[in-house]
Amino acid sequence: MPQLVSELDLPYLDTVGLERREAVDAIAAARSVHWLARSELGYSVTRQQDVTAILRDQRFHSALSMIEQSPELQGSSARDRRGESILTMEGPGHARLRRLVAPAFTPRSAERMRPFMREVVTSLVDGFSARGRCDLVADLCDPYPIPIICELLGAPREDWKLFSAWATDIFRIFNANLVEDLPLIKKASAELDEYVGALILERRARPAADLLSDLIAVEEGGDRLSSDELVGLAEAVLMAGTDTTRNQLACSVALLADHPDQWRALAEHPELAAGAVEETMRVLGAVRGTSRFASVDVEYRDVLFPAGTMVALSMVSANFDPEVWADPGRMDITRTTRAQQMTFGSGVHFCLGASLARAELQEALPILARRLPNLAVDGQVDWKPDSVGIWGPARLPLAFDPT
Ligand code: HEM
Repeated sequence: MPQLVSELDLPYLDTVGLERREAVDAIAAARSVHWLARSELGYSVTRQQDVTAILRDQRFHSALSMIEQSPELQGSSARDRRGESILTMEGPGHARLRRLVAPAFTPRSAERMRPFMREVVTSLVDGFSARGRCDLVADLCDPYPIPIICELLGAPREDWKLFSAWATDIFRIFNANLVEDLPLIKKASAELDEYVGALILERRARPAADLLSDLIAVEEGGDRLSSDELVGLAEAVLMAGTDTTRNQLACSVALLADHPDQWRALAEHPELAAGAVEETMRVLGAVRGTSRFASVDVEYRDVLFPAGTMVALSMVSANFDPEVWADPGRMDITRTTRAQQMTFGSGVHFCLGASLARAELQEALPILARRLPNLAVDGQVDWKPDSVGIWGPARLPLAFDPT
């Protein structure tokens, strides 16, 4: 007989306001008692094996759709369209979209962007490397992903600023003052829609070597992506692929700045880049968790989760699970553990842009290690508040030998 989740004797896990180390310790204490913990949101899952299993269990649905169901967004065009977003869809509709877009997001498609990534990073570093100081967030991390997404979609260079402004405004959906921000969010969404709609018409007439042309060309058994689906995907890519990469790059560099020997090793051996990306994403991931709700009554590990139960999946906890990683608190870019770090998620919603994000980080880190020798944090690092979903430094002041 399964036990009702609300009747279990569980540890309480509350990491709000804790320093990162303290949070990791609190998680470890809860994890050692039970694979589940009670938390503000509902229940937290802390062991890597269970986080993975629940993310792969399609009876649990993305809780992001809850944002769209919020009363503030009812009847807004932003809500209507995002209700169809790949991030929140489930079941056969989601599977169909993933199948259709998968060929455009393979490691090979990311490969063709690498020279452009190096070009963008190099030109940004050229802007500050002679100074010997920078705020890495403003000088590099913030501007870096926009040209990549624009190039990927096929938007010309002169429109990068437009995309940057739209991304900023659309991201307000994750802020606390949704009612106040809604007009800006709707305006940016409408402008982006119109822009991408026009770009699609152009690419239908004249295909080019870009993602939109690939997506337009996609056809499987007579099934094609509609214009609305294409616009929705372009918006999802802009939303999911900019702030994540920015924050992850800043997190990775902040961490490496505290490990000068590994920074030096990366400069001398750029082939360590892939390991450096995986290990820094494990130790300091920009996405620290996600949530799901039980779409039906779910029995898992002899526990009954009644329909509607919210479950938080902690990537931080899974990434520090001692059952999977020996000495999990130790950062080592040469680590050989075969398990995957969890910051890209798992299951049907596993990050669609993981290959692209990995390539962006793998190209940026060795260039930075080479161009910013003797790197050190230079003043106060301002971390974003805990409440922010995609997390990292808001300001990362660094000093290094001018190059
Ligand atoms: C380091 C950077 C990134 C991180 C840490 C990251 C992380 C994630 C995570 C954790 C999810 C799953 C969310 C969940 O299960 O609730 C996700 C989904 C997604 N990501 Fe990423 N992401 C990154 C970069 C990118 C990039 C560059 C793109 C696009 C080019 C992208 C596109 C997407 C999309 C479209 C989804 C939704 C997939 C689906 O629901 O089927 N991401 N990402």
